[in-house]
Amino acid sequence: MGVDIDQAFVQDPQHRPGLSITQAQGIPLIDLSPVTTTNPCPSSMDALVKEIGSACKEWGFFQVINHGVSISLREKLQEASKKFFAQSLEDKKKVSRDETSPSGYYDTEHTKNVRDWKEVFDFLTKDPTLVPLTSHESDDRLVQWTNKSPHYPPGFRDIIKEYIEEMEKLGRKLMELIAMSLGLEAKRFEEFFKDQTSFIRLNHYPPCPYPHLALGVGRHKDPGPLTILAQDDVGGLEVKLKHKTDQEWVRVEPTPNAYIINVGDIMQVWSNDAYESVEHRVMVNSEKERFSTPYFLFPAHDTEVKPLEELTNENNPPKYRPYKWGKFLIHRKDSNFQKQNVENIQIHHFKIA
Ligand code: OGA
Ligand code: NI
Repeated sequence: MGVDIDQAFVQDPQHRPGLSITQAQGIPLIDLSPVTTTNPCPSSMDALVKEIGSACKEWGFFQVINHGVSISLREKLQEASKKFFAQSLEDKKKVSRDETSPSGYYDTEHTKNVRDWKEVFDFLTKDPTLVPLTSHESDDRLVQWTNKSPHYPPGFRDIIKEYIEEMEKLGRKLMELIAMSLGLEAKRFEEFFKDQTSFIRLNHYPPCPYPHLALGVGRHKDPGPLTILAQDDVGGLEVKLKHKTDQEWVRVEPTPNAYIINVGDIMQVWSNDAYESVEHRVMVNSEKERFSTPYFLFPAHDTEVKPLEELTNENNPPKYRPYKWGKFLIHRKDSNFQKQNVENIQIHHFKIA
């Protein structure tokens, strides 16, 4: 069974997906109307902040509706993405990522040193995006990453850019709500994003004849503060429940037009573990292809990530040593694109024992 699968895709036995699927029960579905309509009443705002706070604390992920993002724009992006990936490999490789910039097309990403069954197209929010040249602590040199310009489908770049603007708006609102839920000023996080390193990823998961051996994306946590994910109706995203039950991995059933929001590692550090980053993975499907579009909200490269002073005190001292986001990002980029024999960089490496 599976003798002809390329071994690079095969998960270690303990990380292979089980054959039975459990749909997640009770994932918070949050209505964002209070921040997407004009003149919301103050009490609905308070209720929303509370809802966001408990979703971040109890689950680490949730879905949002009435989020203000144009449905037709989302569909337009999905159509364009389908057309892009339907091209020949040779055509897609014309906009491959390269040594000077990791944005563009790629089909050999590794998560935890196992190859993912997927292909991606990455596009930066800021063009150019300023980042460190290397992950070495003492190297101060910077470089600029820029976006690729696919010729097909027509207008692809403009559609992506328009969609990113919507993600930025939604991201800002969510970060404000999260700040308030932690008892902080709504704009507390804004300063970190002026020179943001955020990007959008168009994912294509082709059908895979080995769903019991391979994963679309291996188990991982997102490294930024927050991810906004659009998934199509095929399904495959699974999250690891924080409160352990018989079933650790549960499926996030697609909700039409909703976004899945998940708390990432930086939020865990900023909140000093009040809001934990959740492990997730993507199962492949032996018959259907699947498309998804995560938007990774990432701060500026020179952000020193550490627990926020307002959220720590004598009784709750900082649980992490500060680290530079840009260095962490480069470390990850270097390790995600080649198989290595050691664990890649993780926030627990900065945990104060
Ligand atoms: C990711 C991710 C989930 C999905 O790309 O980090 O978790 O459903 N994607 O594609
Ligand atoms: Ni992820």
